[in-house]
Amino acid sequence: MEEGVIVNIAVLCSGSGTNLQAIIDSVKSGHIPANIALVVSDNKDAFALKRAQKAAIETLVLNRKDFKTREDFDKEIIKNLKKKNVELVVLAGFMRLISPYFIKEYRNRIVNIHPALLPAFKGTHGIKDALEYGAKVTGPTVHFVDEQLDNGPIILQKAIEIKDGDTESALLERVHKEEHKIYPEAIKLFVEGRLTIEGRRVVVK
Ligand code: GAR
Repeated sequence: MEEGVIVNIAVLCSGSGTNLQAIIDSVKSGHIPANIALVVSDNKDAFALKRAQKAAIETLVLNRKDFKTREDFDKEIIKNLKKKNVELVVLAGFMRLISPYFIKEYRNRIVNIHPALLPAFKGTHGIKDALEYGAKVTGPTVHFVDEQLDNGPIILQKAIEIKDGDTESALLERVHKEEHKIYPEAIKLFVEGRLTIEGRRVVVK
């Protein structure tokens, strides 16, 4: 990214939006030198939308059922992102697979957060799966998004201990706490132009 230029970002969410909130707070405090140009949700009832509205951020709700194919749905999202000159797409609990078309349009400019240490426990139940497997450590991963599920180059990870007797909700709370630190940090690194992808490795300058 060019120095001194404020980067427009869009955040895509389906649910509660606690990560969105952490990003909003980091932008507000000046920690992330970016502008949240748009929050997109596939769920009109997502609490994330309320968080965005409270922060006076423009929102867009699109119902997947209104589109014939996943690509048509993604095309509509992309059309809106381009209108806002969005340069970075942040998936924050967006529970939909992104089409190859979307990836092509925003190659190496889509990031996601996953609640487990990838490549372990991919999919939609990263916390529950790590707990049930009996893993001793887990924690969030921020990664670039490519055509395969939870597969792109890793930007940041944070390991936390799984304790004996841990419950899913207790673990979720500790994972979230770390997510809310590393996601804003990773976005900051991106918008400051400090990330370079070398094969599978993301080098931080
Ligand atoms: C986060 O814990 C994120 O890691 C997870 O959804 C949650 C969204 O919470 N994402 C995935 O599981 C993606 N595979 P939030 O709406 O409170 O930010």
